Amino acid sequence: MKTMNYKKYSAYPEVGLADRTWPDRTIEAAPVWCSVDLRDGNQALPVPMSVDEKIAMFRLLVSVGFKEIEVGFPSASATEFAFVRRLVEESLIPDDVTIQVLTQAREHLIRRTFEAISGARNAIVHLYNSTSTLQREVVFGKNMDEIRHIAVEGTRLVRRLKDESGNAGIRFEYSPESFTGTELDYALDVCHAVMEAWGASQDEPVILNLPSTVEMSRPNVYADRIEWFSRNLRDRRAAIISVHAHNDRGTAVATAEFALMAGADRVEGALFGNGERCGNMDIVTMALNLLTQGVDPGLDFSDLPRIREVYHRCTRMDVHPRHPYAGELVYTAFSGSHQDAISKGLKARGRKGGGPWAVPYLPIDPEDVGCTYEAIVRINSQSGKGGVAYVLEKEYGIQIPRWMQPDFAEAVQAVADRTGEELSAADIHELFQREYVRPQGEFVLKKCNISWADDPGAAADGAATRISSVVAMDGRDLSFEAVGNGPLDAFSKGLIEAGGPQFTVDDYAEHAIGHSAGATAIAYVRVGFSDGRVSFGAGTDSNISLASIRATLSALNRLY
Ligand code: KIV
Ligand code: ZN
Repeated sequence: MKTMNYKKYSAYPEVGLADRTWPDRTIEAAPVWCSVDLRDGNQALPVPMSVDEKIAMFRLLVSVGFKEIEVGFPSASATEFAFVRRLVEESLIPDDVTIQVLTQAREHLIRRTFEAISGARNAIVHLYNSTSTLQREVVFGKNMDEIRHIAVEGTRLVRRLKDESGNAGIRFEYSPESFTGTELDYALDVCHAVMEAWGASQDEPVILNLPSTVEMSRPNVYADRIEWFSRNLRDRRAAIISVHAHNDRGTAVATAEFALMAGADRVEGALFGNGERCGNMDIVTMALNLLTQGVDPGLDFSDLPRIREVYHRCTRMDVHPRHPYAGELVYTAFSGSHQDAISKGLKARGRKGGGPWAVPYLPIDPEDVGCTYEAIVRINSQSGKGGVAYVLEKEYGIQIPRWMQPDFAEAVQAVADRTGEELSAADIHELFQREYVRPQGEFVLKKCNISWADDPGAAADGAATRISSVVAMDGRDLSFEAVGNGPLDAFSKGLIEAGGPQFTVDDYAEHAIGHSAGATAIAYVRVGFSDGRVSFGAGTDSNISLASIRATLSALNRLY
């Protein structure tokens, strides 16, 4: 076997925080959320959003409940600038929402950023410069002091422009970009310098956003860095620690969760994880992870289909069918054992009438995120009797009795194996009708009159019901009259005596379909023959006795 060149890579340095405390903490409250869909998400799109699309996305984010929304990089392009101006000039920003704008630490860009937010009631000016070892060397060719100087100068200018604007609603965020690639003590050193330049205090804290710009190690290592940073900050109360995790290793959500445990206050991310490369931390997943632990996420994802639709329309990005909580297949079970367990779990929950959510294989109630139960169980060749029965009951009110379910599941599986395709609920219903309700065969019910004896002694004699019937069998009419303790008993006896096949009715079930006065009845039977063969049938009629007789003839027809 060829080995991959793992020697090309080296391990990420550990923090060595032996007395770390974060692993023992839990998350009991939602962080301050900040959506970066309109900036980080947008800058990663093959076709960036137009101003109108950005407006639609902004409205969506507001409706979800975000109170801090990074709306763009206004000094970077005319579209970005125009969008921010539209938000301000058309008063599209609710009073309780703060827009955030990103800028590099360069004078003309900072000035342009302030022009963009002029007139906004609340805004966060987000200044960044890369502090990483690698970028200092290969991108900027600057030493640590020079890079710190850029951050401090940028901060001083933001401070001055804020003061000149007289707008107390302007706040400040600083990101030592590529924090994950930066020496930890140096990142702290730069942040201290920035806090000093801002004059950070408890009343006017700096948001220190510590990005996992590139996810370079495990979430626990990032959490160690956050705990170390938080502990070593000179004035912790003068800073809001924010995290901004990218998903290069596929663990951005865990990174943000661990960071919260390690002391972060605020989380930046994007819907469905959109963003540079492998994306930003997915806020939908993180928020719903909180919800499923009984913590109010402070965001409303109760209509994920709508959110997914607007997201797709604005970004042209798809949500993966297996995306946590939101993918179109995540509330669907194809495998028989899962279907069976889900259907039993839902029934048990129905019987209990609610209570804490506990249904096998479903970590969340799909209805809580706007998904419907119909999609939960879908049928293909992997499916089992529980799933098939669930679909028929859910969609058509047909409650196949347990003793008949394996037989029908076999019929469904045979079709699914032959076609290799998924069967819709309508396909399954049609197959049920064809197999059990109207199978082709020799027996046709031509006439059937049922009467009940007035004589109370008749019941004791097993003659409570009298039947007069004509059944066509193989082209011949069998006419008979018979009595029995019920219509099915009388009919079976009469048919056998008139020359029909020798059979017994071994199992029987019936119920109404629907609740109206004119509801149809459905009956199910299992008939047995002396040679050991069995056959199942179902019959429907407005009259339950006739339904049972039709079911019996269906069972016979399936064998003859
Ligand atoms: O990922 C990142 O580091 C960023 C910064 C600009 C915050 O997006
Ligand atoms: Zn980013």
